[in-house]
Amino acid sequence: MDFQSFSSLSKHYQSVSRLQRAAGAALLDLLDVRPGESVLDVGCGVGDLARRIKSLSGAGRVCGIDPSEGMIAECLRLSPEGLEFAEASAETMSYNDEFDIVFCNSAFNWIENIELAVSNMRDALKAHGRLGVQAPATSRCSPNFSAAVGESARDPVVRDAISNFRSPWFWRETPEQYAEVFGRAGFRVRHSEIRHFETQHTREEVFRIFCSGAIIGYMNPDCYSGSVSEEHLRIFQERVKLALYHQADDSGLVKLIFHRIFLVADKAWATPARLPAGSARPPSAGPANAARSPPLRIAVPHLFIPRGIWNAESQIIDTSAIQTLNLFSLILFAPVLFILLHSGPSSFGLPPSSFGLRPSARISLASLIMNS
Ligand SMILES: C[S@@+](CC[C@H](N)C(=O)[O-])C[C@H]1O[C@@H](n2cnc3c(N)ncnc32)[C@H](O)[C@@H]1O
Repeated sequence: MDFQSFSSLSKHYQSVSRLQRAAGAALLDLLDVRPGESVLDVGCGVGDLARRIKSLSGAGRVCGIDPSEGMIAECLRLSPEGLEFAEASAETMSYNDEFDIVFCNSAFNWIENIELAVSNMRDALKAHGRLGVQAPATSRCSPNFSAAVGESARDPVVRDAISNFRSPWFWRETPEQYAEVFGRAGFRVRHSEIRHFETQHTREEVFRIFCSGAIIGYMNPDCYSGSVSEEHLRIFQERVKLALYHQADDSGLVKLIFHRIFLVADKAWATPARLPAGSARPPSAGPANAARSPPLRIAVPHLFIPRGIWNAESQIIDTSAIQTLNLFSLILFAPVLFILLHSGPSSFGLPPSSFGLRPSARISLASLIMNS
């Protein structure tokens, strides 16, 4: 196998991408695709998930885009009539108000110009359309791969090559940081969660999983600042394979850990400033901030947030649950408020001046609470 690009991998991709497909299925569960909905699959690979989406959306339009010529050729070869595929990247695609859902599985970490890509995703969505993104997350998204690359660098030949490696991947370390990227582009983020996966595989399988993505970064000479010879890359690949084999336990199995971001967002009402083609928006550009969705920030210590809203292990903040809680508190405290506002503090055995409010002020306070 030649691992220098996704095109060269395309013919083997189906046989090595079981984990991507499983994570993609979990993202589809979160997105809840309904019959008739139109879906754009960004970075569709060989189209396995686009075909699965078509089985959910039925008559709805399903379109997959990918910058790799080889991947798109496989999509066309493997797919039945009725699906559209086009050779384009997230940065060069151009769709306007056309899709109910933009879906992006295991491709987001490969995008170079994130701001432009996210802006294009937003443009592609109809008003109120929704976005689902799943991708390996954090700079140590796979501790197994990081350890194997580290171990391979004990060989001086590999160490030389690796010291010039420039990571092509986009990482953020927390769900809030991922949410921020989309909030800035005019999305209202509903769910942002880093899930931790632990699976067991034979050592050969683990190397095949490494070959379904990570290796393409490491084997690409463009990812090295100096020149790197084919021989260096061949030795590097051999050493990583050996190091991954060493991670097996006595029964020959490797426990593989992966951190993955799962993010679901809605296209927000306000339109952020349009980007000129090929440019990146500076992080704090003014007009875009006007459309920023509420940041996922915790206003009180998370000890006071019930389970299900804040999960320390997976670092989930479910904002919809917080809204439900607010409604719940309002219903719970409504009788107390009612008595307070109508009968005054005396109903609790307190002197009338306790709250310092005249009846008219009580009415204003009541309408303020009800409107908030
Ligand atoms: C690991 S594969 C994932 C494929 C498929 N989504 C899946 O889940 O199996 C990553 C895909 O991202 C594509 N890709 C790389 N850079 C991209 C970009 N800038 N925009 C969109 N897709 C990109 C690659 O060509 C490749 O097909």
